[in-house]
Amino acid sequence: MNQIETRARLRRSFLFVPGSEERKLAKAPGLGADAVILDLEDGVAPARKTEARRLIRGFLQTQNGRAIEWLIRLNGFHTPYFEADLEASVRAGPDALVIPKIDSPELLQLVDGHLTEAEHASALPPGNLKLFALIESARGILNAPAIATATSRLLGLILGHVDLSVDLGIRPGRAGEGIVQHARCQLVLAGRAAGVDVVDTICLNIQDHEGLRAEAIQAAALGFAGKLAIHPAQIPIIHEAFTPSVERVRQAERVLETWRQAEAEGRGVCTLDGDLIERPVVEAERRVLERARQAGQL
Ligand code: COA
Ligand code: MG
Repeated sequence: MNQIETRARLRRSFLFVPGSEERKLAKAPGLGADAVILDLEDGVAPARKTEARRLIRGFLQTQNGRAIEWLIRLNGFHTPYFEADLEASVRAGPDALVIPKIDSPELLQLVDGHLTEAEHASALPPGNLKLFALIESARGILNAPAIATATSRLLGLILGHVDLSVDLGIRPGRAGEGIVQHARCQLVLAGRAAGVDVVDTICLNIQDHEGLRAEAIQAAALGFAGKLAIHPAQIPIIHEAFTPSVERVRQAERVLETWRQAEAEGRGVCTLDGDLIERPVVEAERRVLERARQAGQL
């Protein structure tokens, strides 16, 4: 397990890797993703769940001390796979678990309780293993504010728009279209109100790089911390959208410099190129620089 701070870290890309596919597992550490989701759920055929649990455990044993955040996505709480997934995942020592189909705070708390038991059975300190909740139903979106505060283990909410679309009876399309855009906004508000990260859904077409770019830029502008990826080629596109550009960093530095001068002159507000600069604006620019620093841009 990584000896890294599990909160307040850069989480731009989350790459899904099917847990049953050794070739893809072997590639995962070198693809540049900030986080990797080792999948036991939809990316793994029912007949291969046991094998995938074993492969993920063996794989994580070789990944000590790497800078990537390693997550495991379990099958849902109401499936016959959940208990075995949970036990195997706790023993595998990931940084966090991704729990699919969370639609109420009570369900997340049930998972939390089972996780505490699994930690106990493995002689691990209770409460250590963190969680991401995958929100992928109408009920989940509506309950997101309560889900976001349901357990202190929660690091973030992740939007799953494909299952959400199935739940709504609509065709899974682009993240920025129709009611999915509404769900995105609602999830960001719920997550940020609780102080956790919110992660945008996948772009289904792995060849549509321009479509992905537009989605990722919009996700960053909406307040998402990062975006799910299903293919290695999606990672650099996502990173570009969620990393301040050189020009953006320069602009932030100009604002801060202007502010310092105003402060030195005893003024609480000032302008730069006609834009008002006041305390919250300065805070927003500081965050841009902090993000650039985390991304190694400074
Ligand atoms: N993780 C790690 N490596 C991956 C990868 C992934 N998610 N997706 C592709 N690769 C690797 C491939 O193995 C291939 O490497 P190789 O040439 O050395 O074999 C290389 O990247 C290029 O892959 P490509 O041929 O373009 O794609 P593909 O046809 O092999 O796979 C998908 C396409 C969509 C099946 C694959 O990207 C995938 O499995 N994605 C994850 C899907 C998933 O987890 N879904 C559930 C959650 S929504
Ligand atoms: Mg799903």
